[in-house]
Amino acid sequence: MMKIVVGITGASGAAYGIAVLKHLKSCGIESHLVMSPWAHRTIVLETDLDPARVVKLASCNYPAEDMAAPLASGSFSHNGMIIAPCSMKTLAAIACGYSGNLIARAADVTIKEGRRLVLLTRETPLSPIHLENMLKLARCGVVIMPPVPALYHRPATVEEVVNQTAGRALALLGIQNDLYPRWK
Ligand SMILES: Cc1cc2nc3c(=O)[nH]c(=O)nc-3n(C[C@H](O)[C@H](O)[C@H](O)COP(=O)(O)O)c2cc1C
Repeated sequence: MMKIVVGITGASGAAYGIAVLKHLKSCGIESHLVMSPWAHRTIVLETDLDPARVVKLASCNYPAEDMAAPLASGSFSHNGMIIAPCSMKTLAAIACGYSGNLIARAADVTIKEGRRLVLLTRETPLSPIHLENMLKLARCGVVIMPPVPALYHRPATVEEVVNQTAGRALALLGIQNDLYPRWK
């Protein structure tokens, strides 16, 4: 069975992480979730869901401060990690190898073990610091995927916009899905 590590940070766009978790659950893919304290806050501010309900979408969840969790070790084998959304703070931590919480540590381990890491980096506009951090990680093979919607399919709802990005991110992890329309 596939195992995917999911991080949700306090950048705007908690809905992306939630869409990813819902799809993994619907496919029976094992998800291992870490949410930062600021993710709990943005979920309350941006969605109608209680963070406790979001946690229940995952197969397993871990406190962000739990450095003894399985995800903190390279010996925990998985099929990739996604951070959706990924704040500029967490991006900076990963780019510097500063494992200050379990999200940054799990990402650090994912990179060192040569596994797939997809970051839905969310900020605008982007400063040279943000761009340098993204470039540094892209050169290590990390997929930098700012959640920028395409409008050529004329999305009619926020859900369609969110699912388009979540679906493409899942496809980058090798998880096929029909969350978004393909250009024919
Ligand atoms: C409503 C809200 C929206 C935010 N949006 C962003 C954002 O889009 N990008 C970002 O980098 N930080 C954003 N922040 C700030 C982060 O939450 C803050 O930097 C936090 O320390 C990130 O920590 P974390 O990466 O551990 O979750 C936002 C904060 C709030 C309250």
